[in-house]
Amino acid sequence: MKIMVVGGGGREHAIIKSLRKSPKVQKIFALPGNGGIAADAECVNIGATDIEGIADFAEKEKIDYAVVAPDDPLAMGAVDLLQEKGIRCFGPVKDAAIIEASKIFSKNLMKKYGIPTAAYEVFEDMDDALKYLETAPIPTVIKADGLALGKGVVIAETREEAAEAVLSMMRDEKFGASGKRIIIEEFLTGPEVSVLSFTDGNAVVPMISSQDHKRALDGDRGLNTGGMGVVAPNPYYTEEIAEECMNRIFLPTIRAMKEEGRTFKGCLYFGLMITADGPKVIEYNCRFGDPEAQAVLPLLESDLLTVMEAVTDGKLSETEVRFSDRSSCCVILASGGYPQSYEKGKVLSIGDMDEDTDVFVAGAKMEEGVLKTSGGRVLGITSTADSLREAIAKSYENAGKVEFEKAFYRKDIGKRALEALAEERR
Ligand code: AMP
Ligand code: GLY
Repeated sequence: MKIMVVGGGGREHAIIKSLRKSPKVQKIFALPGNGGIAADAECVNIGATDIEGIADFAEKEKIDYAVVAPDDPLAMGAVDLLQEKGIRCFGPVKDAAIIEASKIFSKNLMKKYGIPTAAYEVFEDMDDALKYLETAPIPTVIKADGLALGKGVVIAETREEAAEAVLSMMRDEKFGASGKRIIIEEFLTGPEVSVLSFTDGNAVVPMISSQDHKRALDGDRGLNTGGMGVVAPNPYYTEEIAEECMNRIFLPTIRAMKEEGRTFKGCLYFGLMITADGPKVIEYNCRFGDPEAQAVLPLLESDLLTVMEAVTDGKLSETEVRFSDRSSCCVILASGGYPQSYEKGKVLSIGDMDEDTDVFVAGAKMEEGVLKTSGGRVLGITSTADSLREAIAKSYENAGKVEFEKAFYRKDIGKRALEALAEERR
């Protein structure tokens, strides 16, 4: 089969490497891909948000199956357009992608269907929001309604900070139209768990749970980033919690979307917090998480293409989705300065990786035969092993082989997960 993967980051590289293991795959195109992905797929210079260009390419190349990985093209209707041209796809249609594209939609959905989440209020008027903040419990959480490159959430520790966040979103339009409407919600505490799931709109099959590390610096300090590393499985996600999530969150969400006439097919990402009152939804994403996919997909033993096709064809309940019982750790190497300003164009040397270790390239391009950095997050190193401790050690050992000027990475990915495991044994 001729496959097309839309996107060009570490997540897409992980999807492509998984797909390559399928005996059914003959050729993979990446739109646009990147300098590292080029080793595993043919990169085509069509941007991930050029959905017309993507659909035209798929038609011209007679693509047998398309995977749309990033949120933007999904929210813009890339899958709808591809389907109109008769291309089979993995990913939700626009009407279903709204579960990520509008936080107000997802909060109202959860309220209507009794799915546990933080209490919240919606504001369309700035003065109403500011007035509400005068008496709201602190800390409080301010969220822009729409997509904001993962930056539309502010945890405000004081009333002043909260008001500032509202002003920057609603008056200064920091996130453009995405911040015209906002949510102010209850601040929850507890360990966070990411659960990516396959769903065909009826059945839902959770993948191995994982734990992202969003802050830039060790000890969860520094600015929020797209993710600096992931471990899987997440030790806080016990069997008991998994069962509760299935019954109170996963299945109710899938059924709610169907009930609303917005059947969701693809990968639905549940961002959860395990609070003292049980698991609650922090956010939904309509796609594989990045870097979560880089830690989770290397543990998938079943053929990814077969599972994806089952999602498309509504046959997920008849299809085996098997994960290894090993553990994985993904460490992200970033350009010095990220997530603020950083330099690009540094010569990138990856070195020889050990067995059970993958390199997923996120931000690199090939210039005259030399691989150079081209983004904030440059690559992810994922190792798998029989235990989480070994996976972490192995991934750090291999991360140490990568060289580029001003490279940095967190040294404590998985530390808290190991502490939780030790706690459990006690
Ligand atoms: P998001 O962009 O929705 O992933 O939110 C970013 C991060 O903000 C989440 O991963 C949480 O750590 C935090 N967060 C979001 N909502 C809440 C909340 N209601 N209470 C506490 N933390 C939150
Ligand atoms: N790692 C968080 C996300 O993909 O949204």
